[in-house]
Amino acid sequence: MGSDDRVAVSTPSMRIEVDELVIRPYRPDDARELMEAVSDSIEHLRPWMPWIQFEPQDIHDKRKLIKSFSEEWESRTGFTMGIFLGDRVVGGTGFHVRGPNDSLEIGYWVRTGHTRQRIAVRSTAALTEEAFQHSQIDRVFINHDEANIASEGVPLSLGFSLFAREPREALTSGDSGVLKRWVMTREDWLLKKQDQ
Ligand SMILES: CC(C)(COP(=O)(O)OP(=O)(O)OC[C@H]1O[C@@H](n2cnc3c(N)ncnc32)[C@H](O)[C@@H]1OP(=O)(O)O)[C@@H](O)C(=O)NCCC(=O)NCCS
Repeated sequence: MGSDDRVAVSTPSMRIEVDELVIRPYRPDDARELMEAVSDSIEHLRPWMPWIQFEPQDIHDKRKLIKSFSEEWESRTGFTMGIFLGDRVVGGTGFHVRGPNDSLEIGYWVRTGHTRQRIAVRSTAALTEEAFQHSQIDRVFINHDEANIASEGVPLSLGFSLFAREPREALTSGDSGVLKRWVMTREDWLLKKQDQ
């Protein structure tokens, strides 16, 4: 990553609790749950998540995938986490290490049957708080395709500001080819917390 300041980011918390939800890295024994959560949600994820092209995956594929997530954690090139309700995977989230060097990007998906319970909003608020625990991080980004109205509800609910609206290659069947990028600065996050 060269001069990227984020190489100095200490490892994010391995376990974040939000109400009844636990956000943590996947472990090898989560492979079956992750496989079932994605397979239940394929049609709901297909319009928006580029990785759905690699589905269906069996349990061996999922074990390999979880191993690759662990390797990314170790090299600090990505921080993928599951969102758990007890033992059940109800979604996925994490930090992408991309974009400006003083930033992290949050991604998310929620399992079919668990949407509209503010799981994405609550998890993203917790990850935004986590990001700003690291002094190198001054901005948190959320990116989504303009046509993905459900995804847009997350940064809007949390008071992120529109940073850019730019063309990009459509990657999935739902994509319009216009990317919306939302930002939360450290300063704005602190102000929002003071107002609560
Ligand atoms: C986008 C997604 C993660 C939202 O998860 P969620 O947990 O259901 O979202 P939340 O309950 O936190 O919703 C937050 C707000 O977003 C908006 N929203 C969420 N889903 C919506 C929908 N289907 N239609 C319109 N607005 C929606 C609402 O304003 C909602 O607040 P409200 O329920 O109080 O009205 C989920 O729909 C999903 O997994 N989509 C497929 C994968 C995906 O698109 N991931 C993002 C890629 S950028």
